[in-house]
Amino acid sequence: MATNQEDLFKKITSHCKEYGFIFQSSEIYDGLSAVYDYGPYGSELKNNIKSYWWKSMVQMHDHIIGIDSAIFMHPKTWKASGHVDAFNDPLIDNKDSKKRYRADVLIEEAIEKIMAKAEKEIEKARNRFGESFDEALYRTTNPRVTEYLTKAQSLTDRLTKAMSENDMEALKNLILDLEIADPDSGSRNWTEVRQFNLMFNTQLGNIAGEEGKLYLRPETAQGIFVNFLNVQKTTRQKIPFGIAQIGKAFRNEIVARQFIFRMREFEQMEMQFFVKPGEEMKWYEYWKEYRMKWHTALGTPETKLKFHNHENLAHYANAAVDIQFEFPFGFRELEGIHSRTDFDLKSHQEMSGKKLQYFDPESNENFIPYVVETSIGLDRMFLAMMSQAYTEEMVPDAEGQEAQRIVLKLHPALAPIKCAVLPLVKNKPELVELARKIQYQIKPLFMCQYDDKDAIGRRYRRQDAIGTPYCVTVDFESLEDGMVTLRERDSLRQERISITEIGKIVLEKTGWEQIFNQ
Ligand code: GAP
Repeated sequence: MATNQEDLFKKITSHCKEYGFIFQSSEIYDGLSAVYDYGPYGSELKNNIKSYWWKSMVQMHDHIIGIDSAIFMHPKTWKASGHVDAFNDPLIDNKDSKKRYRADVLIEEAIEKIMAKAEKEIEKARNRFGESFDEALYRTTNPRVTEYLTKAQSLTDRLTKAMSENDMEALKNLILDLEIADPDSGSRNWTEVRQFNLMFNTQLGNIAGEEGKLYLRPETAQGIFVNFLNVQKTTRQKIPFGIAQIGKAFRNEIVARQFIFRMREFEQMEMQFFVKPGEEMKWYEYWKEYRMKWHTALGTPETKLKFHNHENLAHYANAAVDIQFEFPFGFRELEGIHSRTDFDLKSHQEMSGKKLQYFDPESNENFIPYVVETSIGLDRMFLAMMSQAYTEEMVPDAEGQEAQRIVLKLHPALAPIKCAVLPLVKNKPELVELARKIQYQIKPLFMCQYDDKDAIGRRYRRQDAIGTPYCVTVDFESLEDGMVTLRERDSLRQERISITEIGKIVLEKTGWEQIFNQ
């Protein structure tokens, strides 16, 4: 990560804590690694992201219904889904530091370093040649650059092969060939690489031993698969249709880093779309486009998002793509769109002995549908929105002097607080009384906040820092003319509006129609 991006990421994480968005779990006991709690503004923002997803996927879509399935499922579920046998990461321990790493991540990082050397050479040449620089030509002809790029490509090929063949020895050889040292201690005293299952398990109280072993679900999707026929029959759905849900998932991640990017307890927003076999690629393309639009409709620039095809397909998929977002630490997976074939329904049918087939009234045929899945991490989406919104800029203060402000330029529909009500001064009871009256008038419509502490400029800054799109200031004139000043967060524009209009105006500017009527 470049230093300025590293700084930015640090600023975002400390802003999250300072302003009550996210706290380390069990902080008073020095925290629990990769587990986080959402504070007052964080839980509002998270709920708004969930609402946006649910509205777009369930409320606004004609062919999707929602469910809420349990976290615990019959243990056979995870045998059928392949998670017991194949939901593994390759891990390696350093014998000296006793630290544990993901072998594939260590190798990826070493390859990235080689790529970075090539990029550095290209950057130097760009500065040297200026306007006349032909980057494409330089990439393919400069001996040093081609050497780095060829080496990186051949290592990537070896890594992909080792991962797809579950070849732990090949991974260890890559670590040795690349002379990878423990990033913490510098030691190269490694154990063998071995598979590590990512599911957490626990035990049922009334059954001892293996029989009573339960897993905390590592994805919400299986709760949808096992309910496929229940939902289809009770809501009389015809294929194609989808089932959506939002819920917690748990993974015993070996490398838990980058704040809420990779957590051990997190939330997923998943949708399984059931289609006729053979039509899955058409729907795969449909969902790629639909989901990308969901992101850009929030104002996220297209340059910050890109598709990334999977080279290494999961055990259940015949096509898979990530929507990557440019986090401060680079482009990383935000959402996955997977064509899961009939793998899951078929396995559950075999394991349970219960038919999971759809009867097509048009063709009079029974078949197991194919599935296209969209799966986005709620916490990752939260981090993407925070990274996108966090802005430091110079603006005129109350006295007209340029001053720095930190502002979260969140989409108004996502903002935790939609409107703050601020009496100009707090030692005038008439102003306080009117401001409180306004607060209670608009409270039922959206989240609002009353604040009378400190000078008005500082109160604006506090609202900027939590992303409040509108502030209403109640001044002496308000007592005379029933008007207040409405201040807009991003443009800093101020306009006088009638007290009776506040609710309607703010609701219009911060409501979901803003997004869905684009
Ligand atoms: N049902 C398919 C599935 O679970 P996945 O690619 O493993 O696919 C889907 O996960 C999404 O869940 C990812 O794109 C990511 O946003 C989120 N996710 C996965 N692991 C995560 C973790 N440890 N912490 C936070 N989010 C995670």
